[in-house]
Amino acid sequence: MSNHVYIITGASSGLGAEISRQLLLEENNVFCLSRTENDDIIRQASGYRYKFYSIDLTHVENVYLILQEIIATIDSSKIDSITLINNAASVSPIKDIQYCTQDEIMANIQLNLTTPIMLTSSFIRLTSEWEVKRRIVNISSGSAQYPAQSMSLYCSAKSALNMFSRCVGLEQDGVPNAVQVFAVDPGMMDTEMQKTARDSVFQLSEFFSKQKLEGNLTDPAHVASKILTLINSLVIKNGDIHHV
Ligand SMILES: NC(=O)c1ccc[n+]([C@@H]2O[C@H](COP(=O)([O-])OP(=O)(O)OC[C@H]3O[C@@H](n4cnc5c(N)ncnc54)[C@H](OP(=O)(O)O)[C@@H]3O)[C@@H](O)[C@H]2O)c1
Repeated sequence: MSNHVYIITGASSGLGAEISRQLLLEENNVFCLSRTENDDIIRQASGYRYKFYSIDLTHVENVYLILQEIIATIDSSKIDSITLINNAASVSPIKDIQYCTQDEIMANIQLNLTTPIMLTSSFIRLTSEWEVKRRIVNISSGSAQYPAQSMSLYCSAKSALNMFSRCVGLEQDGVPNAVQVFAVDPGMMDTEMQKTARDSVFQLSEFFSKQKLEGNLTDPAHVASKILTLINSLVIKNGDIHHV
């Protein structure tokens, strides 16, 4: 096992896939969690440094067990760091709240908020005896700060995720072998999530289409590289919310 271990949710497309690809180029040990697996990453990864777990992260009851299984495969005496990146998210349902079904509401909040919270809690507990650098990166969004019609669930979950990162950052401040916890807003990227917003019929679909037409969407590979530089920099304070 390499010296640095990363656990990434939502690694099959967009930002998560780019982060995983770049980590594998550097010979890190990467655990990817999503419902589907990315073929390019399978081709790029060589054997033992990459492991994929197929999981629907809206089913929060499975989250602890998967993390426990991953942690059990790692010999902490042989690594220097472990990083959890809570990246998986969905902007759906894009509807005014009265039209969202109970299942849609639960799935959104579970994926975008409850799962990152459960993974954070389990990660801190399961690695508490490890004498290695431990980090948690929560991928946030500008939507955490800007209210939007028909995106109330996504905006609220991201806003709560920022506050959660700040609170846990405070909890970890000054603790021996503290876990470094922070959030990163990646900005608008050219990914499937943006396409979903563009293709949906709602007040902001024109805005999202315009961002694509005017070339305002960033390449997720570029953002991934910036986030990895940030993760490995010394300037991060616990609970910080960064903008890339
Ligand atoms: N794109 C943007 O403009 C933008 C802007 C601000 C913030 N962000 C944030 O950046 C992060 C990455 O977004 P992205 O644009 O790269 O999104 P994306 O291309 O849509 O990818 C989302 C990832 O999440 C996974 N995922 C979705 N539902 C899941 C489920 N139920 N269980 C497990 N995994 C699931 C998907 O994998 P499977 O479908 O295989 O499960 C996929 O790998 C998100 O946190 C997003 O909120 C994006």
